[in-house]
Amino acid sequence: MERENFGSKVGAILAAAGSAVGLGNVWRFPIETGQNGGAAFIIIYVLCIIALGLPIMISEFLIGRYTHANTAGAFRIVSNGSPWKWVGRLGVFTGWFILCYYSVVGAWTMHYTFLSVTNAFYEVPAQEYGNIFEQFVSNPWIPTLWLLVFIGVIHYVITRGVQSGIEKSAKLMMPTLFVITVFLAVCSVMLPGASEGIQFLLKPDWSKVTSATVLQAMGQAFYSLSLAMGCLCTYASYFDKKTPLAKSAINVAFIDTVIAIMAGFIIFPSVFNIGMNPNEVGVGAGLTFISLPNVFQQALGDGTFLAVIFSSLFYFLLFVAALTSAISLHEVATAYVTEEFGMSRKKGATIVTAVILVLGVLCSLSFGPLSHITLLDRNIFSMFDDFSGMVLLPIGGMLISIFAGWVLDRKLYRDEISNGGDLKTPYFKLLVFSLRYIAPIAISLVFLDQIGLFNIFK
Ligand code: TRP
Repeated sequence: MERENFGSKVGAILAAAGSAVGLGNVWRFPIETGQNGGAAFIIIYVLCIIALGLPIMISEFLIGRYTHANTAGAFRIVSNGSPWKWVGRLGVFTGWFILCYYSVVGAWTMHYTFLSVTNAFYEVPAQEYGNIFEQFVSNPWIPTLWLLVFIGVIHYVITRGVQSGIEKSAKLMMPTLFVITVFLAVCSVMLPGASEGIQFLLKPDWSKVTSATVLQAMGQAFYSLSLAMGCLCTYASYFDKKTPLAKSAINVAFIDTVIAIMAGFIIFPSVFNIGMNPNEVGVGAGLTFISLPNVFQQALGDGTFLAVIFSSLFYFLLFVAALTSAISLHEVATAYVTEEFGMSRKKGATIVTAVILVLGVLCSLSFGPLSHITLLDRNIFSMFDDFSGMVLLPIGGMLISIFAGWVLDRKLYRDEISNGGDLKTPYFKLLVFSLRYIAPIAISLVFLDQIGLFNIFK
């Protein structure tokens, strides 16, 4: 079977950036920054990206492009039959897992776009937003229907193929996402009182920085860059031999970070404008679906045209960000099923979609009819979220860095990142050093911290 490649370098970078820019940029990064010392956190985050994120991203790119195979196939090839081949399979499994709960949130963003467009937040009292969200997610039908639509869109893009599906949609959605982000950030910083919000976000406060902050920054850097499970490895398997790997990785990391910082400019000026305490806005779903709809209504004028536009665009932005990431996760599994079991793309994608539908619906219903099913105090959704984020991703990241630093042939590595000697690689030694020592140690610390086995830092 002919294997497709991305049609252009820009398309390849936009697709990878589409994977990276996702919910994590909007619903986690700004809050983490605000609460962990503003610019101080941003500096640490950027250092984590440079010291850990980029080396692992470059390695994933390299393994993908060198093998031109799905993640499981890629690791089988580069591992020469050793047990390292399991790293690829673990990645495919992890991506499948993440996609199940991630799609549920993607579906919520669609519902909130709809509510915003129809001006449903007009004259809603501040304390009601929590109930609105609770009622929505616990409803057995509405979130499930949106989930079907969200997964349907992913499925459509994936079945259209690498160039006319993934690449084309990234070329359309990433610029859209960027324009909306800039527009919302500009609107928000023009609000009265915005400067306090900007200060909250940007004033470096080193007194808030502890070792726990550093761990948080590392965890966020990995998640935000879509690392540790072969997502970018799969996309890189569609890179052309001439694509400069290090440069592409830098571009992706740069786009991802800029969008994350701009998301902070959308959120905090509005929060300060209405005199809300930024420490009470919550994180994740609470921030996005309970605090922010209220913040936007109040900051921009309840029920006004501006509020409708602002709120609609904000949820649409989240939807686009979630969609491009979800597409990349789906592709990991689709490439795997298609290539490893020799199926047509259509059939492979259908199998992947069917699994996600079943598990996704279970995640979605776990806020309503299935809320009684819990494990370790978590509903099904949180089990998927926490198990993938706290266990599978750190293990995957550690194994990938150890593999790239210790096992993968050095000459092959150098040949690949220099495109056969065409590009200079003065950073090579540092990169290997990070992969061998810094990344595995750092990831094990994040891991131990996340599963709570490690409290000496607190
Ligand atoms: N990076 C995306 C975000 O910021 C989420 C994501 C997509 C992801 N693919 C991934 C996270 C692979 C970890 C691994 O929301």
